[in-house]
Amino acid sequence: MAKLGFYMEKKVMYSAVQPSGNLTIGNYSGAIRNWIAMQEEYDCFYAIADLHAITVRQEPAELRRHTLELAATYLACGLDPERCALYVQSHVPQHAELCWVLNTVTYVGEASRMTQFKDKSQKHADNVNMGLMDYPVLMAADILLYLADYVPVGADQKQHVELARDIAIRFNNRYGETFRVPEPLIKKDGASIRSLQDPARKMSKSDENPNAAVFLTDDRETILRKFKRAVTDSDNSIRAAEDKPGVTNLLNIYAAFAGGTVEEAERAFEGKGYGEFKLAVGETVADALAPIQAERKRLLADKGYLTQMLQGGAERAFKVARRTLSKVYRKVGFFQGD
Ligand code: TYM
Repeated sequence: MAKLGFYMEKKVMYSAVQPSGNLTIGNYSGAIRNWIAMQEEYDCFYAIADLHAITVRQEPAELRRHTLELAATYLACGLDPERCALYVQSHVPQHAELCWVLNTVTYVGEASRMTQFKDKSQKHADNVNMGLMDYPVLMAADILLYLADYVPVGADQKQHVELARDIAIRFNNRYGETFRVPEPLIKKDGASIRSLQDPARKMSKSDENPNAAVFLTDDRETILRKFKRAVTDSDNSIRAAEDKPGVTNLLNIYAAFAGGTVEEAERAFEGKGYGEFKLAVGETVADALAPIQAERKRLLADKGYLTQMLQGGAERAFKVARRTLSKVYRKVGFFQGD
């Protein structure tokens, strides 16, 4: 650790969510839920990734609103601003600055091979902008700025964290030991929640089918209705299997929200019908979300507090980010006057 030039006592955890819409239960179970338990043991930095969000078109007023809502959601889910730095990515300019340097050690071939880039290029064919391709390099900058050891994310982000590792190793080889090489932390259950209407696709904030995703803000009735309509299959047995993607997804959701494993969920529903099963999944999710929703609503009534909390988070993040960037600038040979 001394090699890195400054001393950090605890291991560092870094992750972020984009304020690009209402969060789904996928964002919760794949990411935020797993951040809560880590606050004690790690130095945690959790950002609201607004720089990433504008790689697809956002309505400016909506982006602002979603940013504040995401701050409230972080707190309502149980993140404690005293123990971790919660902040808005664009409030810390070093993210964009480090991204520029990392662009020069990232190959176009690597970035263009990313699955998400290919998917989003197809989905937003009229807006395949440079930022969309640069998205994983900016993510690497986020992670590497804080010398993160671990990055708790959903399965869809594994490839990006692996690219961040490659970039860190390449930079260290070229310029000398600078970055820690981060590891993705991906939970076995709940790391890949699928669409309720088409389990071949991941559940996404921006799905056009309103029944495909369950949002953290959905009321109980809406949640029960969406699960009731979720696709299953005709064989009527409640078990996880490759040829039963709809049922497997529901079991995964149940396990993530009831707090057990998929195997335990299978045992709990053995011999039951799909109707009863879907109702139980819906009720479990609705019960888990109710206190989060109430707390989020309460927090959103106090915009002043949220703004202040985000300022405090950005100040803490800035101190670390400034040190790392200054070291990077020295390593690459930028004249700094001393
Ligand atoms: P975003 O906002 O697209 O997703 C936020 C987190 O939610 C996870 N996730 C899911 N997990 C399980 N099932 C799903 N259906 C599902 N959908 C989304 C994602 O894996 C992610 O963990 N690029 C990041 C944001 C980011 C970031 C970073 C993450 C920006 N910089 C640095 C880690 C480190 C993203 O996917 O945001």
